Amino acid sequence: MPKWVGRCSSCGAWNSLEEIETTLDNNVVELSSEVKKSKLVCDISHEKSQRISTGIVEFDRVLGGGVVPGSLTLVGGDPGVGKSTLLSNVYVELEKRSLIGPLLYISGEESATQVAARFERLSPKGKNFWILQENELEKIFKDIDRLQPKVIILDSIQTTLTKGSLGSAGSTSQIKEVTYELMNKVKANGISCFVIGHITKDGHIAGPKILEHMVDTVLYFEGEQLSDYRVLRAVKNRFGRAQEVGLFLMTELGLKSVNHPLQCFLARTQSETSGRCLSTLVEGTRVLLIEIEALVLENKYGQGRRVAQGLDATRLSLLLAVMEKHMGIPFGMNDVFLNIVGGIKVSDRGCDLSIVTALWSSMYQKKINDRWMFIGEVGLNAQIRACRQIEYRLREIERTGVEKVFLDKATANKLRDKTSLTLIGLDSLQALKKKLLDC
Ligand code: TYD
Ligand code: MG
Repeated sequence: MPKWVGRCSSCGAWNSLEEIETTLDNNVVELSSEVKKSKLVCDISHEKSQRISTGIVEFDRVLGGGVVPGSLTLVGGDPGVGKSTLLSNVYVELEKRSLIGPLLYISGEESATQVAARFERLSPKGKNFWILQENELEKIFKDIDRLQPKVIILDSIQTTLTKGSLGSAGSTSQIKEVTYELMNKVKANGISCFVIGHITKDGHIAGPKILEHMVDTVLYFEGEQLSDYRVLRAVKNRFGRAQEVGLFLMTELGLKSVNHPLQCFLARTQSETSGRCLSTLVEGTRVLLIEIEALVLENKYGQGRRVAQGLDATRLSLLLAVMEKHMGIPFGMNDVFLNIVGGIKVSDRGCDLSIVTALWSSMYQKKINDRWMFIGEVGLNAQIRACRQIEYRLREIERTGVEKVFLDKATANKLRDKTSLTLIGLDSLQALKKKLLDC
């Protein structure tokens, strides 16, 4: 009996179901009659895959050392963040090295003239770029067979259609089928394929989750519209380290790698205001210095607002609750705004202590010294815990002019003799409050 269904029975998400007409043909799965036998690992000969270096240091680093032939990489990001620019830059660099055959850019979003204009801006020569303005996968495959490219860019997965599936472009079934067919094509022909994907307002790549399972590598390109810095993050990589990041600067001539990013997210002006404090972030194999800004204001008209930029709002609420309970700070009637300078997103728990300090500093209008840094995770009972890779963080910080580091007590005692920094050990937020009041 047909019945209206609004909620997925397996994951519980609302309005995630989509009606798809199926024909009998669609349901027939062709199975091969060949019966395969298992082999010993040592008997399987494998060539070490020959990576192609793009010449863009940060891009190669995120991919794990260069582009892998016969691989499918999905690149997701907000509109306008620079996905098309990044991949156009990769083409320009690959072409300069002329190590590689034709490079094909398949555009389903922009006209061929628009894409050509961008390439023109990035590299006026470009004799080896081919642009195809097409949305149908079957026709795209025909052009691939004709041109035999070594690298292709598909911009974007949501605008590509295949006859093998029903539904409009961007629907769950189309995205799944297009990816499946594309995957088979690139593996069979040893092509490196980059696919651009739109993201939803929750920040995930639009389409079924299975999309991310199918592809070899998933990269997210992040950055604020108002900042020139961009972060490319590998969330999945079958050929390298996941969670590796690459840093770029958006310029008039496209994206440039940032090779020494330690201090690139700091505010460029020194200010004498309260509500600011320094911390570090470990992103992939990189340590970054970041600055937290907090603004706490009295709200006379109702419940206080909590606004977090660059940080999960739930984490902010949790830290406010812990501060209220254990430091005796009544935030109930206050508006609280928190911002991470430079537009970088923070999920590293090691920043908790600096967030708490910035909030305290804004609440009581006490400036925190610019040469102090706060690193540590804050627990629900106000205890301060060690965070990962602390020795590595301290080694990097030593070069930056920071003098004092506030961190958990055990780590401070352990590392005191191994660093030129003054380490101040704290076991709880009460101890932090006491130290801040004494200074
Ligand atoms: P784009 O790559 O089109 O974004 P996406 O494909 O992610 O939607 O980039 C759009 C922005 O990048 C646009 O606002 C202009 C800017 N931009 C530069 O600043 N410099 C450049 O060299 C290029 C090509 C774009
Ligand atoms: Mg684009």
